[in-house]
Amino acid sequence: NAENQNKPGADASDQNRTLDDAGEWLVMMGVCTHLGCVPLGNGAGEFGGWFCPCHGSHYDTAGRIRKGPAPRNLEVPVAQFTDETTILLG
Ligand code: FES
Repeated sequence: NAENQNKPGADASDQNRTLDDAGEWLVMMGVCTHLGCVPLGNGAGEFGGWFCPCHGSHYDTAGRIRKGPAPRNLEVPVAQFTDETTILLG
């Protein structure tokens, strides 16, 4: 879950990045970890996830950096379900 993901050295497996243990929900910040541009989604980039047009960072579908200057995966914020259809951020 997000708490694990944000610890230094934690692996960034799909399950570790998703909000739920089933891996169905992934909440990420849409801010490139290079210099803060907004990556394009919908399968953009070479890894089918997100592509940042500012300097060419490619993220995979789970927001892991795969290529380009960005130093870190897309950030996973602290988030939790408050009921079946509501997610609380922060
Ligand atoms: S701000 Fe995204 S690659 Fe530079």
